[in-house]
Amino acid sequence: MKVLVCGKGGSGKSTIAALLAKSFARRGYGVLVVDSDESNYGLHRQLGLELPSYFMGYFGGKKEMISRMMKAFPKGEKIDLFEEKWGLADIPGDYLTQKDGIRLLAIGKIQDFGEGCACPMGALSKMFLDNLDTTGNEAVIVDTEAGIEHFGRGVEQGCDVILAVLDPSYESLQLSKKIDEISQKIGKTLYFVLNRVNPERRAAMLEFLGEEKVAASISEDEEIFRAGLAGEEIDVQLEEMERLADLVVNKA
Ligand SMILES: Nc1ncnc2c1ncn2[C@@H]1O[C@H](COP(=O)(O)OP(=O)(O)OP(=O)(O)O)[C@@H](O)[C@H]1O
Ligand SMILES: [Mg+2]
Repeated sequence: MKVLVCGKGGSGKSTIAALLAKSFARRGYGVLVVDSDESNYGLHRQLGLELPSYFMGYFGGKKEMISRMMKAFPKGEKIDLFEEKWGLADIPGDYLTQKDGIRLLAIGKIQDFGEGCACPMGALSKMFLDNLDTTGNEAVIVDTEAGIEHFGRGVEQGCDVILAVLDPSYESLQLSKKIDEISQKIGKTLYFVLNRVNPERRAAMLEFLGEEKVAASISEDEEIFRAGLAGEEIDVQLEEMERLADLVVNKA
């Protein structure tokens, strides 16, 4: 199964992606976490892993990708980076860090002033996920950049389930409508994960969202907060995350 985690900036996408990865790993799944956020550097620490070399390097780096895209796109051609379908075992080990059944792949990050936009990273995320096959005991969890640009790029196409992480804010609720609309259009299963809620916040959000798509409600958690502030691995096991993992397994 391939699960994509999205939502507004700071809503808790990487936290939920890391917790879900750990939950699947505990269940014995071979887990691949794909860091497709070109701007933020938090996810590897939340997983207790080193940041791997960027996968874009395997294809010659960002400049090479841009040059291939510039050659192909004016002619209306697509670039094809993969000659055949890949499974998790085909990912070159040089581009992975791993421990306890979790492997981390990072597509690429913006590193320099004036280096250009993140289009090549988005294109690679899409091509990689479209091309990746998983077996029944493998789970791929994709952590995305804030907002909905990845929908514009079609990254969701290669995924089975979309989890939109919503914090208690007007912006998150507004974004949920757009994400719902697009997910329906592309025929993908969407769930909302409410984050940093208490019963009152949850009730207020449900008034707007309804109950149907709300898969989990994660409370403000002191240990998650502490780890986030210290840049440390998140080492908590939440019942609500286990419920979410059950649901994803059943729906994917
Ligand atoms: N349920 C929670 N309880 C306490 N702190 C939380 C919770 N969820 C997230 N946080 C904290 O909020 C901060 C933002 O979380 P996170 O990095 O997961 O968000 P994000 O959506 O991935 O952000 P970005 O858009 O920058 O990628 C982190 O410091 C994290 O530790
Ligand atoms: Mg993040």
